[in-house]
Amino acid sequence: MTDSAVTRRPVTQAESRRASRGWWDAGADEYQAEHGEFLGVADFVWCPEGVREADAGLLGPVAGARVLEVGCGAAPCARWLRSQGADVVAVDLSAGMLRHAARLNAVSGIHPPLVQADAGDLPFADRAFDVACTAFGAVPFVADSGRVMREVHRVLRPGGRWVFSVTHPMRWIFLDDPGEGGLVAVHSYFDRRPYVEQDEDGRPTYVEQHRTLGDRIRELVAAGFVLQDLVEPEWPDGHEKEWGQWSPLRGRLFPGTAIFVARKPD
Ligand SMILES: C[S@@+](CC[C@H](N)C(=O)[O-])C[C@H]1O[C@@H](n2cnc3c(N)ncnc32)[C@H](O)[C@@H]1O
Repeated sequence: MTDSAVTRRPVTQAESRRASRGWWDAGADEYQAEHGEFLGVADFVWCPEGVREADAGLLGPVAGARVLEVGCGAAPCARWLRSQGADVVAVDLSAGMLRHAARLNAVSGIHPPLVQADAGDLPFADRAFDVACTAFGAVPFVADSGRVMREVHRVLRPGGRWVFSVTHPMRWIFLDDPGEGGLVAVHSYFDRRPYVEQDEDGRPTYVEQHRTLGDRIRELVAAGFVLQDLVEPEWPDGHEKEWGQWSPLRGRLFPGTAIFVARKPD
């Protein structure tokens, strides 16, 4: 990828969706090879800092609950949820990622249903779920994340919980560098134009969206949610594993992940 193929510019929802499908389909094998072991086969890891749902309990009790996972990737979280007695459905946009999900369902013998769909257009009835969640799925990749918030709100029952993790918005001001180069502020936190990689014809091939903390909270509130918590996991002592731009060096200085815990009012 040359520098000229990387830019920040507005993209439409359709461009963003097309780029995400292509990128996650093409990159599914590489993503699994790089991160599959850390994520596990039936485990719910919220972030590169290694916070596990088994310890954090952000979703509340899940046994017997109807749970929706959006942007499930290879669906380790959905399999963990099922192993805990949840009635879970796992959704992803990418056939390539769902191929890994189906393979690991077969390997583990744990079979959450897998559905290919866009998080902004969920093929489920109103109030169909008690809980919705995602670990870094869908939300950072959609141009209209407000629409995802509204869709999740629609499919949750009153009193239902919506928990999602994303890259912490303050990371936007730094280069994606796990080393010293990633400690220097170079971009404006307030620049909402997405990070775009594009091909020689200028078509986006990878798009990642930025929202400030305030933007995320406003989108949740506008969709009808009440924010209950914003978890900013600290880098644990002894955790030396890097994940892309997440590293012990940076993690000890500032947050890398934001986990939003929201509730649909009764
Ligand atoms: C960083 S991966 C996270 C996957 C998984 N949660 C994990 O922890 O490994 C992001 C996932 O979001 C999915 N995704 C991107 N845009 C989406 C959309 N609009 N709707 C549903 N899934 C989407 C991608 O296909 C990919 O599987």
